[in-house]
Formats: sequence, C-alpha cells, structure tokens
Amino acid sequence: MDPLRLLVVSGSERSGSLNRRLAAVGADIARARGVQVTVFDLRALALPLYDGDLQKEQGVPDGARRLRDALHASDALLLVTPEYNGFPPPLVTNAFDWLSRLEPEDGHASGLATTAGKPAGLMSASPGLLGGLRSLNFTRQFLSMAFQMMPVPQQFALARANDAFDEAGALKDPKAQASVEAVLSALLRVTTALKAAA
Ligand SMILES: Cc1cc2nc3c(=O)[nH]c(=O)nc-3n(C[C@H](O)[C@H](O)[C@H](O)COP(=O)(O)O)c2cc1C
Repeated sequence: MDPLRLLVVSGSERSGSLNRRLAAVGADIARARGVQVTVFDLRALALPLYDGDLQKEQGVPDGARRLRDALHASDALLLVTPEYNGFPPPLVTNAFDWLSRLEPEDGHASGLATTAGKPAGLMSASPGLLGGLRSLNFTRQFLSMAFQMMPVPQQFALARANDAFDEAGALKDPKAQASVEAVLSALLRVTTALKAAA
C-alpha cells in the first residue's frame, strides 16, 4: 500500500502559536511512522469572513479550493486547534464554512463530498488548565455532523501549554508525548483500515 498521506492543520498561525507547536509534534510522530505529511496553513488562504452577498457577487474564494484540493490529496486530517470561548476559532470554522459552499466543478467533487468519510484526529493546546478540552467536542461535532468526517475517539488537550515545550519544540512531559502518540496511533490505524477497504 502507498504511504498514508496526512494533512496537518493548526487552528492558529500566529507567531509562537502553541497549537502549531503541538501540531508539529504530531507531524513528527507521523513522519517517523512513514507517513507522508503535508503541513497546511489556513491563514495563508486569506479567506474573508463568510458572507452570502460576497459569494453571490464573486463566487467562493480560491482559498477554499486550495483547502478542498489539500483534503482531496490526503487520506486523513490532523487538526490541532485553540479554543476561543469554548469553541473552535473562526480561522477553522470560517475555512470549513467556505469549503462547504463549493459545488462540484471542473471534475472536482464538492467541498462536502471531499471531506465525507475522511478520518480526523483532534488535539488542542491552551495555557489554561483544561487545554482547550471544552472546544474539542464542538470541533468533533462540527466535522462529523456537517462534514461527515470520522474523528477518532482518542483526542488530547494539552494544558499549561505555555510551559509544555522545550527549546527544541519537544514536549517536556513524557505523558503528554504518549497522549499525542495515542491520537496518532488511532488515526493511522483507522486510516490504514479504511484505505485497505476502499
Ligand atoms: C478570543 C480568545 C478566546 C479564548 N478563549 C479561551 C478558552 O475558552 N479556553 C482556553 O483554554 N483558552 C482560551 N483563550 C486563550 C488561548 O488558549 C491562548 O491564547 C492560546 O495560546 C491560543 O492558541 P495559540 O497559542 O495556538 O495561538 C482564548 C484566547 C482568545 C484570543
């Protein structure tokens, strides 16, 4: 079987983002297991805030097509995202909202058909004590209910994330590292099984 292809997305691209650091740990684990990893920058899509008038006047922005194509070229998604007031942040939901507006075109499936049946692994990081845990269930629901993705049950919320990484970007706590490994193990196991069954 060809190597698994994993799309790694952080819900924050600010400089020094804790979630991007945690995503990098997940990406390293996947690479060490022979997975072909693509790190994808949602902010670089420069998507405007979803607006029905804008869509009517100018169509869906090309940034949404870039996300669709990146998902199409991947067997699974690893999404590592901050929590904003208990919810996934607009960088994530807005990009997926635009994606959901893409109809089939030029031989490409619709945005929703592109995500359907694709496994996902979810993690979050926060300086707080819950690590963004409250938002993970909403992210899970968003991706599974609306986008028919298949988030694996294993997830990880990294608490006190501002003190969790060493200077090389590695997690200081072996238990935290083991939790990230567990998410990746579950995600890659499910992805392998689905790919074999396809
Ligand atoms: C608008 C806003 C809302 C936030 N709400 C929460 C929250 O509900 N729970 C939490 O743990 N942290 C919350 N935070 C703090 C973030 O977890 C923290 O800023 C984190 O570093 C953001 O992720 P990043 O480092 O990857 O950018 C919030 C931050 C912002 C800017």
